[in-house]
Amino acid sequence: MVINDSIRYVNNRLRVDGIDIKSIVAEVGTPTYIYSLKRLLNNYQRIKSAFAPLQARLHFSVKANGNLDILRALKRAGAGFDCVSGGEIYLALKSGAAARDIVFAGVGKTREEIRYALANRVAWINVENIDELDHIDSIAAELAVGPARVALRLNPEVSARTHPHLATGHGAAKFGLTADVIVEVLNQPERYPRIDFAGMHMHIGSQLGDDEATMAALDKLLALARGFAQIKTINLGGGLPVAYRFDEPVAPLGNLVEYLALRRRGCSVLLEPGRSIVADAGLLVAAVLYVKRRAGAVFCILDASMAELIRPALYDAHHEILPLRRAEEETVTTQVVGPVCESADVLARDRQLPPLKPGDYVALMTAGAYGMAMASNYNARPRPAEVIVVEDGTSWRVSRRRETYEDLLRLQ
Ligand code: LLP
Repeated sequence: MVINDSIRYVNNRLRVDGIDIKSIVAEVGTPTYIYSLKRLLNNYQRIKSAFAPLQARLHFSVKANGNLDILRALKRAGAGFDCVSGGEIYLALKSGAAARDIVFAGVGKTREEIRYALANRVAWINVENIDELDHIDSIAAELAVGPARVALRLNPEVSARTHPHLATGHGAAKFGLTADVIVEVLNQPERYPRIDFAGMHMHIGSQLGDDEATMAALDKLLALARGFAQIKTINLGGGLPVAYRFDEPVAPLGNLVEYLALRRRGCSVLLEPGRSIVADAGLLVAAVLYVKRRAGAVFCILDASMAELIRPALYDAHHEILPLRRAEEETVTTQVVGPVCESADVLARDRQLPPLKPGDYVALMTAGAYGMAMASNYNARPRPAEVIVVEDGTSWRVSRRRETYEDLLRLQ
């Protein structure tokens, strides 16, 4: 079974690079997120190289994983950041990023967030509302900064092949501006003296099933941009998919790069990948608490739940589950669940797994993106620790300690 270069079995024990996961668990306990810096940086370089013919700028989408060590490593590798809140801008700046390497996006930016972004002089604001332009223009004047560089986000009215919760580019979605509104704005830039309309943005969804919808959307964006010489940058958004199943094929990036190389007409290209950089660099390790057999069903109850990894409950997402210690045993159909008081707290349904028993450990794979980032304290569960395996793969450290009961009350 091919997992990836960083996460694999050696002598039937699951490792992250050179580290036996069990040795981390022995010190840190469970549930714990573990990230391979090596895999993270390989992913970044792979995408960077694929888009090298376009000299594209990569802005890591902080929403996928805001861990400061992850952000720092990506910053050192040369990445910029895509932020969707004042909080994310704060994290990106704290990682050492320069404001000129930050784009600020989001369908509902508050005036305070816009002020924070402009005061820090972020590189780009991706705009999704007409009234937002008035806010940006007046706040830029107030702060005497500017002109603020804006990319208008087009809603290309294209349906992407992905989970409905992850599609953002269709006409019924709340995201972006319609083409006619964009034309209207670009035809009267004098209404916004403090804005430089230099870019066009799109993001049609996440975990995109193929690149056809992306190209269809790009066709529309490029056709629109052609009419306006001031548009010099195209921001493709994120959405590059990852394999959540070990045997899942993922479309190569080459087609998209080639497509754009032929059509971008000198525009610079910007990308906002999140998942494709961090998802398969991370896993969530959990302990088996109980095994319950009932009417033909085997329930395996973990100490990890939808509070730590909500993707299965929210999107029916598939995360492979691997025992830390591999043995040649016949698999049994297993319902892998968490301890949270919700029927939706299921991490895997009808999964073929070797027989598990209390005290065993399992890894929920490909959990580096939208895992810890979406974790909550539901059921008053302290959020898990985050561990980083350093780039040379020989040592690890706790990047964020496990929350304590006291942490649950810290703000009250
Ligand atoms: N740019 C924009 C404007 C976005 O809305 C997103 C993701 C990205 C970039 C990064 O997309 P990525 O490269 O990671 O696909 N919680 C969901 C994913 C939500 C994505 C939201 N927007 C999940 O766990 O699958």
